[in-house]
Amino acid sequence: MLNNCNIVIVGGEGDLAFRKLYPALFSLHKEKLLADCTKVVGFGRGNYSEQEFLVAMKQWTEDSEYVKEVDDAAWSSFAERIIHFSGDATNPDDLLRLKSDLDADDFIFYLSTPPSIFAPICEAMGKAGVVSDNSRLVVEKPLGTSLESFNEINDTLFKTFEEHQIYRIDHYLGKETVQNLLALRFANIFFDPLWNRNYIDHVQITVAESVGAGGRWNYYDESGALRDMVQNHILQLVCLVAMEFPARNKADDIRDEKLKVIRSLKTIDASNVQANTVRGQYVEGSVNHELVPSYLGEGDAKEKQSNTETFTAVKAEIENNRWQGVPFYLRTGKRMAERYSEIVIQFKPVIFKFIDVDPNAINNNQLVIRLQPNEGIEMNMMNKVPGLSEGMSLQNVGLNLSFEEAFEEHRSPSAYERLILDVTRGDQTLFMRSDELRGAWRWVDGIIDGWQKTGQSAHSYKAGSSGPDDALGLILKDGRKWQIFE
Ligand code: BG6
Repeated sequence: MLNNCNIVIVGGEGDLAFRKLYPALFSLHKEKLLADCTKVVGFGRGNYSEQEFLVAMKQWTEDSEYVKEVDDAAWSSFAERIIHFSGDATNPDDLLRLKSDLDADDFIFYLSTPPSIFAPICEAMGKAGVVSDNSRLVVEKPLGTSLESFNEINDTLFKTFEEHQIYRIDHYLGKETVQNLLALRFANIFFDPLWNRNYIDHVQITVAESVGAGGRWNYYDESGALRDMVQNHILQLVCLVAMEFPARNKADDIRDEKLKVIRSLKTIDASNVQANTVRGQYVEGSVNHELVPSYLGEGDAKEKQSNTETFTAVKAEIENNRWQGVPFYLRTGKRMAERYSEIVIQFKPVIFKFIDVDPNAINNNQLVIRLQPNEGIEMNMMNKVPGLSEGMSLQNVGLNLSFEEAFEEHRSPSAYERLILDVTRGDQTLFMRSDELRGAWRWVDGIIDGWQKTGQSAHSYKAGSSGPDDALGLILKDGRKWQIFE
C-alpha cells in the first residue's frame, strides 16, 4: 500500500503535538520510514511565528525520552518536510487554502484537539471537499464520557469519514510490551494449553502512576480513573490477555476477537457494584520523598468539592468457556507509590503434593508481564535449593527476561511512532473500532450508574501509598493478594 503523503496535525501548536507527535515523526524520518513526498503540516492558530514553531519543535524533540540524538543533518532534512500553517480548521476557506498550498488531494488529518470541536472540523472538511477516498482521520481520546456521548462524537465523524478511514488512538496499543502480548501468547506453544480456567487462578492488571491530576485537573475531574484509564487502556489489555486466536493476522480479525471479550464481560451494575469495585481519591502525602497536595488541593481544584475517583479497582469477570470463574482484578490510580504497570497471570496450585514437602512451601507459578518501567517478562517457578539438607528444600525463583538486555541492539520506538506509521500504511490493527468502544462504554456505564444509584463514594488514600485499603480487601476477601503494592 502506498504511503499517504501529507500528515496534517490539527492542533499542531498544542501540547500533544509538541510532546509526542513531532518527536515521533522525527524518529520515523530518521529511520527513513516516511515516504519522500511526506509533508508534516502543523496546523495551528498562529500563536507561533514560523521560526518560533521550528525552534519549539526541535526543543521538544531533543527533550523526548524516545529520541536518541537530534543531529543537525537529520534535523535539517526533517525541517524541509515541515509546513507551519496558520488557520482555523473549522473554516472551510482555510482548509481550501491548505489544499491549494499543498497542491494535494489526499490527507491524513490528525485531530490533536478537544473532541468538542471534532464536529465543526469534520463538517468544514466535508464542505471544503478536502476529504477523498484515500483520506484518513486520526482521533485521540477522550471519545466521550458515556456510551451516549461517544455515539454523538462518532456520528459526527461518520458524516465525513467511513469506518475504514478512522483511526481511534489508544496509545497503549502502540507500546512495544503491549504488542508483545500477542507474540507471547500466539508464538509460544507452552502458554496456549495452560491459558484457560483449568490452569489459571486469576489475572491482575495494575497500572499505577506517581503523577497527580495536576494541570489537567478540570478534564480529569469530569472523567475520573474509570473513564480515563479502565474504559480504554486497561480494557484493551484485558482483551489481549483474554481473546481467542484470530482467524488471521488482519485488523478486523483481531478486533473481532477483542470485541467478543468485551461483550462477554459480566455486567456490573447497582446490584453488584459495591462488591466488585473500589473508588479512591488521594489526599496529601509524599511521593518519591516529596510532599504533594491532595487532589482537592491542586491548582484548579481550589475551593471545589469533588467525588471523582483518582483510583479504582474492579473485579471483572469474563463469561465464556475459557475464562468462566477466573477473576480479572484491575487496578489503576494516580499518586501511587511509583509508576509501575504489570499484568500478572497467576496459575493454580500443583495438584500432586510432593513427597515430604510442606504444600504451603510451594508457591503457585506466576507469569508477570512488566509493561513499564523495565519492560520484560518474569516467570516465577519453584526450584530445589542446592545443598545436602535432608528432604527437599524449595525456593521460588524468577526467570527474568529484560527487553532492554535481550534486545540491546534495538531501539524501542515510542507508541506514537508505531501508531503514526501504521496510519500511513493504512493498517488499523492497533486502532479501536466503533463497536469495541461502544461495548467498553456500555460496560463502564453500568459501573458508573451503579456508583450513582448506590451512592458509592471515593475513599481517601494517602498520596504515595498503594491506594485505599478497600482495594486490598477487594482481592483479599477472595483469598488472594496483589502481587505488588500489597
Ligand atoms: C492517558 C491518560 O490516556 O494515559 C492519563 O489520560 C495517563 O491520565 C496516561 O496519565 C498514562 O499513559 P502512560 O503511557 O504514561 O502510561
